[in-house]
Amino acid sequence: MPHSIRLRTFRDLLNDGAVVDDPERIATYTTDQRQLFTGAALAVLKPTMTKQVADIVRLAAQLGIGIVPQGGNTSYCGGATPDASGRQIIVSLERMDKIREVDPVSMSISVDAGAILKNVQDAAANAGLLLPLSLGAEGSCRIGGNIGTNAGGLSVVRYGMTRDLLLGIEAVLADGTVVSDMRKLRKNNTGYDVKQCFVGSEGTLGIVTGAVLRLAPLPTRRATAWLKLANGAPLAELLALVRRESADLLTTFEFMTARSVALATEVLTDPPSLRAGPAGAVLVEFASSSRHLDLDELLEAVLAEAIEFGWLEDAFLAQSGSQRTAMWRLRETIPEGEKRRNGSVKHDISVPLSSIQRFLDLAGSHVRSYDVDLELSVYGHVGDGNLHYNVLVPPGVDRLEFTKRIDGSLSLQLYDTAAALGGSFSAEHGVGRFKKHLLERYGDVGRIAAMRRIKTAFDPANIMNAGAVVRPLGEKSAC
Ligand code: FAD
Ligand code: MLT
Ligand code: ZN
Repeated sequence: MPHSIRLRTFRDLLNDGAVVDDPERIATYTTDQRQLFTGAALAVLKPTMTKQVADIVRLAAQLGIGIVPQGGNTSYCGGATPDASGRQIIVSLERMDKIREVDPVSMSISVDAGAILKNVQDAAANAGLLLPLSLGAEGSCRIGGNIGTNAGGLSVVRYGMTRDLLLGIEAVLADGTVVSDMRKLRKNNTGYDVKQCFVGSEGTLGIVTGAVLRLAPLPTRRATAWLKLANGAPLAELLALVRRESADLLTTFEFMTARSVALATEVLTDPPSLRAGPAGAVLVEFASSSRHLDLDELLEAVLAEAIEFGWLEDAFLAQSGSQRTAMWRLRETIPEGEKRRNGSVKHDISVPLSSIQRFLDLAGSHVRSYDVDLELSVYGHVGDGNLHYNVLVPPGVDRLEFTKRIDGSLSLQLYDTAAALGGSFSAEHGVGRFKKHLLERYGDVGRIAAMRRIKTAFDPANIMNAGAVVRPLGEKSAC
């Protein structure tokens, strides 16, 4: 069937303007956020309600057209980008952005999957509650994308990942069936936990159209500090001390090397004078909803102990909201700093906390023997055993060529190192299209077999984000 007729059938389902096929207008949807790959799409469809999503999926299934669900298109592994065939449609959830209900008593929020994370945080805060999911892309990523990638971010150490916040789901399966399970229950042991199948599925099992998320009491007090790590400071021990003494109030423990801090400093118009110590810096935060606790006093006492052990060269406690914001801005601007410098080859690894120093030592020696002139930007959510071990693209060097070269050589050494320590090649950024070969290389054979069966059971015709994450049963490996 010619393209124009196929498109007309979709136009018949949706309102005017909801089917966009003008190449210029869809360019930002067909290129991944890091601009590593540009695919092609028949069109971008923008439904406004769940029924329209179900109609689209049913029609696509009839016509044999593939579907790529898309939220904010901020993910890092190309999972939201169509392939090059031009035979897939992108279903963007951007027009499904309503906050459906905030329930302060049940401490939950029900939203459309296209709601922007920041707007959901704000709606919760207006009701005196906290949506404890926070990441640098929160102004543009959407809840469906957060579920699709099982996003982590900056407060996982206290509240867990997206998976831990999901109470209920509404989703459209590959044949148009609607799973409508928007309940707010903490307890519901009634068979398979279907909603969890969608978490981290990166659009390969169905389209999430709604979600119920768990909220927490809104912190009214925070104590935030910038720590300059002394030479040889043991990161895991420092974290253990801070965590143990924090009375479970630790919400953030973010590590940054001096190079990463400098990258952020270079792009900020009014950068704070904070620097890293010889072994880097840590941004640490305690938060509590209680008005009766003196968090500054608690954090100060903990840090005094760390200084006594010789682990810190210095520590600065934020004395005001603006000092706190400045510390956070420095941390959150690192990805932008990398981008402005010429980009980086990202390695979003995790290892057990007990192996984090070992990983840093081994990875450092791999990098030095690969090319002693390479520069690194290493930082991350060390509270979760997650490091962004990024190799900076040298100035003046072609970013895509460099990425390809590193991906096929040094990256594998770094991932091998993480794997040998019981770690992961993707802690929070997913698999998408870019890391499929890594799943095949490092994934447990039985686990991959189970994933392929789940994929095929949910989507026998392989229309949902084909080419991402995992091969369905019967498809040969291209690796
Ligand atoms: P998209 O990129 O649009 O999609 C991601 C995947 O989910 C795709 O496979 C897509 O097909 C699928 N998908 C999207 N919507 C749906 C849906 N409704 N139903 C089913 N599948 C769907 N990530 C972290 O985990 N932690 C961080 O700290 C972090 N920091 C970041 C900082 C910056 C500056 C940037 C640019 C990104 C960062 N990310 C981080 C990555 C990214 O923001 C997250 O992966 C985010 O969850 C993606 O959401 P999105 O709406 O942009 O999803
Ligand atoms: C972050 O933690 O800032 C992101 O996950 C990493 C990145 O943007 O490279
Ligand atoms: Zn991160």
